[in-house]
Amino acid sequence: MTYILPKLPRIAYGADYNPEQWPRDVWREDVRLMQEAGVNLVSVGIFSWAALQPAPDRFTPEWLDEVMDLLHAHGIAVNLATATASPPAWLIKARPEILPVTAAGTRLGHGARQHYAPWSLAYREHAAVLVRFLAKRYGRHPALVSWHINNEYCCHTKESFDAFTAARWRTWLRERHGDIESVNKVWNTAFWSQRYADFDEISVPALSPTILNPGMMLDWRRFCSDAFVDLVRMEANILRAETPNIPVNTNFVGWHDLPWINHRAIAAELDYVSWDSYPDPGEGLDAVQANALCHDFMRSLKPGRPFVLMEQAPSAVNWRTVNVPRAPGVTRAYTHQSIARGADGALYFQWRQSAAGAEQFHSAMVPVTGLRVGGHENRVWQTTRELGRELARLEPVAGSTSPAHVALLVDYESIWATEHDSKPTRMDVRREIARLHRPLWRRNVPVDIRHPEDDLTGYSVLIAPALALLSPRAATNLRNFVSRGGHLLFTPFSAVFDHTTRIAGDGVPGGLTDLFGYAVEEWWPAAPGCAGRVDGEIGEFTWANFAELGYATTAEVLASFADDWFAGRPALTRRSHKGGGSAWYLAAHLEPAGMDAVVAKLLSHAGVSGLADTPEGVEVTRRISESGLQFLHIINHTGTAANVALPGLKGRDLITEADVSETLRLPARDVAVVALG
Ligand code: GLA
Repeated sequence: MTYILPKLPRIAYGADYNPEQWPRDVWREDVRLMQEAGVNLVSVGIFSWAALQPAPDRFTPEWLDEVMDLLHAHGIAVNLATATASPPAWLIKARPEILPVTAAGTRLGHGARQHYAPWSLAYREHAAVLVRFLAKRYGRHPALVSWHINNEYCCHTKESFDAFTAARWRTWLRERHGDIESVNKVWNTAFWSQRYADFDEISVPALSPTILNPGMMLDWRRFCSDAFVDLVRMEANILRAETPNIPVNTNFVGWHDLPWINHRAIAAELDYVSWDSYPDPGEGLDAVQANALCHDFMRSLKPGRPFVLMEQAPSAVNWRTVNVPRAPGVTRAYTHQSIARGADGALYFQWRQSAAGAEQFHSAMVPVTGLRVGGHENRVWQTTRELGRELARLEPVAGSTSPAHVALLVDYESIWATEHDSKPTRMDVRREIARLHRPLWRRNVPVDIRHPEDDLTGYSVLIAPALALLSPRAATNLRNFVSRGGHLLFTPFSAVFDHTTRIAGDGVPGGLTDLFGYAVEEWWPAAPGCAGRVDGEIGEFTWANFAELGYATTAEVLASFADDWFAGRPALTRRSHKGGGSAWYLAAHLEPAGMDAVVAKLLSHAGVSGLADTPEGVEVTRRISESGLQFLHIINHTGTAANVALPGLKGRDLITEADVSETLRLPARDVAVVALG
């Protein structure tokens, strides 16, 4: 079995642990309670730069030595942070140029966190010294099982318009494009008199009178994302030189930072992927689905490997306008959702709730209001304790993987290019991804999120949600997929332009009109509040927001627009290919039931079915171990009991140890993890 944390071959359970906020006697209480709660992994030192290096030439790691020893003595492993997430005040005083500058030219200040320009050289130099120090001092400590690089890159600071970054931007452009004429060509600077004679004429895209050059903005996003890739690589290289066998990781914010960071490029630098999940309890099942999608997304960054849920809130967060706490059972259901979708660890932010500071009202495993209140065990602590015991029973699941035959195609650069200001309408690509994930989630169809240039063998269905930017390489990859018998669905605003944002000259979908047997003539956003109808083999549905008017050349028309001058134009087409493959084109944003009907038709055409038929809000997923053991997770996220029919199923629930066969009655917000066989 391949474990992502070889020194912790079980389901990891724990939290961010910030002992520097507490006196020593609390540390002893902490480790005792951690043992009681079944905690086996904590992330230590994430915001400890100032505590570890209080002055440029003075390191004070003695407290961390003690914490590491104490944790180890109590059997708790450490995911040790490199502590570079929040530069100390002395460093900002000495090198104020580290502070990021906004697009309006305002330099941000010290006093919160993540106050460094991502490309800042001064920041990097000092961060490297700290990382080297920690790697040397703790690299051989027996508690160390993983390195935690920085924290949530670009959660707050995504870009900076300072002078150093501007110079770095020009160098980056020179490295990418070679000469200034290539830049002029790629950015089409003939437009609006934007031509450059030399790199030193190029400035950062700060505030401007109107829409900035789309090609330049796509490069700017690449450049901003590259800063984080570069930072991760810098830290990972230092750590690996010292400890080649300790896995290296950083925690992603999830897909919220997708407009700013290429997780795929960063994942290539890491040994395993982790992310921090904070679904809004106020959003009901939409949040449950969005969270499932994000798990699928993060898991797919390292295909065939588990990931870690590095943070979640035991109850309320502190940073929304209204911070609704989690109802009883919700944290348990979400914890199991992460394992169900491929995580080998479920950790929280944070272990002990801060009594003061910006996060004093953020829930934690050990609540600030006490473990017992008015003669009752604190509800949050009770969940913390019970869940620890429960997860220990899932040890056989660790190391197993989550195979899928369906994938959604997502490309970061495509999102960056599509969400630029100048488009037929405001495009929210993440919304389209979620709308296409929903029918799969609802049907319990395992799904990965892959890049269109990835190796796509093993999938039988691919769905492209608004995949506007398509490289020639990706187009060939998809063409090959269909010719091998695969089924491909494109949705509105796909294959519109290339990696320079130039609209395809040979018809849209670019380079693939013959594959689809369909071509777009006109983009047609609907005025807010307006809707039209489509009608055909899938049923009759409304469309809103966006449609494309086009013609079928060689494709069959499965549904057509039904109103006005749109009437008869294709809304859903399918072109069948030799070898059994097919290319489908959906030309409108349909209402949810319509999207569902399209995906259902595609799946049935491809012969793909879900793992079980369940009421919405009851998820069934499967993990498979190297030796072929199968684990079904069944999670009822709803407030009512559900009967789940699982024809042919026989197994044992790892949580209750009860035998399960054929049907399962799951109370509200309950979970079963069935080992088959
Ligand atoms: C993020 C950070 C943590 C903490 C939590 C609070 O995930 O990584 O340090 O601030 O948010 O929700």
